[in-house]
Amino acid sequence: MNYQQFSIDYELDKICEYYLDKIQPSIWKNKFPNKNFNIEEFNHRGSETLGNRFFSNFPILFSELKKTFGENNFFGRYFVTKPQSKGFIHVDAATGNYLSNEFTAGKDFVCHTRYWSYNIPLINCTNNYQEWFSVQCDPSFLNEFNSWYFFEEKNSNLIDSLELKSPFFVNTAVPHRINNPTNEERIVLAIRTVDNSKNLLDRLSNINP
Ligand SMILES: [Fe+2]
Repeated sequence: MNYQQFSIDYELDKICEYYLDKIQPSIWKNKFPNKNFNIEEFNHRGSETLGNRFFSNFPILFSELKKTFGENNFFGRYFVTKPQSKGFIHVDAATGNYLSNEFTAGKDFVCHTRYWSYNIPLINCTNNYQEWFSVQCDPSFLNEFNSWYFFEEKNSNLIDSLELKSPFFVNTAVPHRINNPTNEERIVLAIRTVDNSKNLLDRLSNINP
């Protein structure tokens, strides 16, 4: 399964406002003064990892996330996708002491697949898509973007796609990318769990059958 809808209450307008007021200006002006980004650099600007201090600005969202994932078991990030872009096909990595390692990176450390992201659409999330692929080639790990990339796209086949019209769990362990043919940035709030549970969706279906 590559995605599953999961509804919660959250302060959409306030979360968008926070991005526009506090995140977007700092990304452009302070963190990345050079604006000649390639697609991956652009897409990984996003934001720093956001913790409890960030979520405490949005009490409805904070309470729902605590109920869903458990206290101190989640963090967030604004993800921005470049207009008129198709990112590289990749698999997300998670760091930490997790149980599984479908892919290994380098000799000296092992990274682990991140299984799921809970993605909340914020700005311009229609007419663009998360796409999943079957791939033939081996991936290369890029530290800079903390992901495994599949560079031989000619041997890949589109197997699934999702327009993020509401919050969804999206599979980040199957090769995927964002295809944004629109003229606007696509802004998503991505929530990940600290425990990176592979069985997260089974657990949630027991809570909300
Ligand atoms: Fe990803």
